[in-house]
Amino acid sequence: MTASITLPVSILGSISREEFLRDYWQKKPLLIRQAIPGFTPPLDIDELAGLTLEETVESRLVMEQGPESPWQLFNGPFEESFLQNLPEKDWTLLVQAVDHLLPEVGELLKAFDFLPSWRVDDLMISYAPEGGSVGPHFDYYDVFLLQASGKRRWQLGQPCDESSSLRSDTRLKILTEFAANPEQDWVLEPGDLLYLPPQLAHWGTSLSEDCTTWSVGFRALSAEEILCGVADFIGETLEEDLRYTDADLTLPEHPAVIDDAAMTRVKNLLNQVINNPAALSEWFGRAMTQTKYPDQLLPQESPWTSATLHELVEYAAEEEPLLVVAEGSRLAFRVSTEGNWLFADGEALKFNVAIKDWITSLCSNREFDVQFIKNTLALPEASELFVKLINQGSVYLTEEDEDSNLLH
Ligand code: SIN
Ligand code: CO
Repeated sequence: MTASITLPVSILGSISREEFLRDYWQKKPLLIRQAIPGFTPPLDIDELAGLTLEETVESRLVMEQGPESPWQLFNGPFEESFLQNLPEKDWTLLVQAVDHLLPEVGELLKAFDFLPSWRVDDLMISYAPEGGSVGPHFDYYDVFLLQASGKRRWQLGQPCDESSSLRSDTRLKILTEFAANPEQDWVLEPGDLLYLPPQLAHWGTSLSEDCTTWSVGFRALSAEEILCGVADFIGETLEEDLRYTDADLTLPEHPAVIDDAAMTRVKNLLNQVINNPAALSEWFGRAMTQTKYPDQLLPQESPWTSATLHELVEYAAEEEPLLVVAEGSRLAFRVSTEGNWLFADGEALKFNVAIKDWITSLCSNREFDVQFIKNTLALPEASELFVKLINQGSVYLTEEDEDSNLLH
């Protein structure tokens, strides 16, 4: 592991954040040359490959001419011998959520603070020798592709949707047709950044033996996920007594007819149960802060109280970060007429608006020093919330002599 990343004032180069949101976000691609001048990845290819040996790490390998099929997909964890015996060219190794494993890598996410942090899915890193590619495809995610080392050619193609035709001879969703746009054909070098909106065909091919690409993906729930999630969440709270009623029934035209009046009753009942802004807020906050890998959250074995926090500040050094947000943790908050919530890793914690500044400060930091904890202890409600975060594993105590936070 080498030096940490030095971020520029803005990762968008000469484009302002407002301009980016107005003209590009979810609309069209943007190439930013030297978004991070002099970028040097804090982990090398061997360290990246090392991660794919771990049971807890999600990794994949894509081989264009696989031994069994074209565009063959292999899922990690991998054996060292498998990695050592790979062909010289034309494959890609992909490691998911490296930001959850290595805080030095997660630093990059700070550069995207012009977007809601709860939209971030993870930071994936791919390594490919020359010719390596995952094929022409589209994603339902917005993605920022940062060239970390070596060179990659990116070709962009047509807008795609569910009806776009995919190859049937591979488990990967590879497009059968790729209409390359000659004006969007670029070779990216270290520090260059490419933003792609969802559903645009793209094809990245390594042009060097040391090509690594960092992808920051932004998730968006599908309507199906929202409908089913809300239905489950609200459904659980509904009384058995609340059901379809038709006390207004009039003589049916035919006993087998389902008439408009019946459908109006169904719609009214649905509207009545769904028109619950507090439940919607709570469900959405929980859903958007759900951790990608819930097993990575390690709850405190012996739960803390405010007294534990008091003890901690007594002997701690002033400047050092004492507690940190767990690498895979997701925090968000909502202040509204229907309630105020702090959402942390799928939990919804209500708070009084009087501690809004503390909540804002909590969500602005990944590290907490003695002063922060003292400020917290001055507010009983904040102390209680903070202790809950510690007990559920969203915030943990730093251990200075711990070499790596790999398992957090
Ligand atoms: C890659 O890094 O090779 C693929 C990323 C992508 O196309 O989404
Ligand atoms: Co993609």
